[in-house]
Parts: sequence; C-alpha cells; structure tokens
Amino acid sequence: MTLVLLFHPDLAQSRTNAALATAAARLPGVDVVDMQALYPTGHIDTDTEVARLIGADQIVLQFPVQWYSTPPLLQTWQCAVLTRMFYIAYENEGRRLEGRPLMIAATAGGSPDAYSPSGVSLFPLAELLRPLRATASRCALRWAEPFLVYEAGGLDDAALELAGRRYARRLSLWREQVEADRAAELARRRRA
Ligand SMILES: Cc1cc2nc3c(=O)[nH]c(=O)nc-3n(C[C@H](O)[C@H](O)[C@H](O)COP(=O)(O)O)c2cc1C
Repeated sequence: MTLVLLFHPDLAQSRTNAALATAAARLPGVDVVDMQALYPTGHIDTDTEVARLIGADQIVLQFPVQWYSTPPLLQTWQCAVLTRMFYIAYENEGRRLEGRPLMIAATAGGSPDAYSPSGVSLFPLAELLRPLRATASRCALRWAEPFLVYEAGGLDDAALELAGRRYARRLSLWREQVEADRAAELARRRRA
C-alpha cells in the first residue's frame, strides 16, 4: 500500500493539493490521509502514526511549500513520530521502517524561473527540499525523485486535471519500480 500523508493547513481552501489528493486516492492500493483534519490542534497520536508508517510499503509526504519550508504540522509530525521511532524506540520501530521508499510531493506558488539563480527564490526547489532529503537519509528511507508542481496557486481546471494525471502516473510507475526492485532483491538473496 502506498501511504500519502497530506499536510495542507486548510484542504477546504486548496485547489492543487486537493486535486492531487483526489487523483491519488482513485488509484488502487493508495491511502490518502488528511493529517490536518485528523490533528487540527497539532496533537499527534504517535501510536496510530507509527503503526500507519510501518504498515505502508511506500510513503509520500504531500504538502504546499510555505516560506520555503513545510507546513508547521509536518514539522510537528517529524518531531513527534520520527523522533519516537528513530531516537526513542529505534529497535522496535525505526529499524522496521528502514529501506522504505519515500517521495515528496510538493506544490509551490512560484514559477520554475523564480526557483533559479536569477529568480526571486534563488535556488531550485529540489535544493530547498534538502532538509527532507537529509531526514530520509538519517532514517534510511529510500529517496525518490520529488514530484513538484509550480505556479500551484493559479492553475485553471485543465492544468489541475493534468497535474492530477501526472501525479497518478508518477505514483503508479513508482510502485511498479519499487515492486520490481524488491523482486530483484529477493532473487539476488535466493541466489546468494
Ligand atoms: C503562508 C504561505 C507561505 C507560502 N510560501 C511559499 C513559498 O515559500 N514559496 C512558494 O513558491 N509558494 C509559497 N506559498 C504558495 C503556496 O505554496 C501555494 O499557494 C500552494 O502550493 C497552492 O496549493 P493549494 O491550492 O493546494 O493550496 C505560500 C503560501 C502561504 C499561504
């Protein structure tokens, strides 16, 4: 099962993340969880969230970029769930997550040009996601190429539809790739 943890501060006001989440949820074997709806006060049930992660075959963290970073609830989730798994209960929890594939799906209001050396944001968006990449490395999660949507604040219906289709295709291809890698690894181990 592919687990999409969606961190949007107000999904009712969202167009792009809502469209992506709808497209993802239509795929078989994909579970989309609206974390803000579950934890509006920011108090995260870590038992539930640790079990959710351990039960997933691959994990997506989906969110709108806010001030070149993640929404506050995603940071809270990291501090509550990843700290517990990887610092407090590593043997029983963190270790069990190691090797799990992780993809970031981020939407940004800025254009690709804005995320260039001559643009207002100076740096490519993928570079600004480095703290998440370092986190994945620290937790031994397998980093996948992020799925990025630019100019996400003003997409018309056709562009939203296209973004949803691109996302669904990316998630499907990713799962096929992960399953193929797993089968190849099993075959390699059997031969060894
Ligand atoms: C508080 C706040 C901060 C934001 N910071 C950024 C930013 O740093 N870079 C950027 O490209 N867009 C930024 N945006 C724009 C959002 O990323 C954009 O509106 C969102 O991805 C659109 O997706 P949605 O329709 O799902 O809300 C910000 C928006 C808000 C509300």
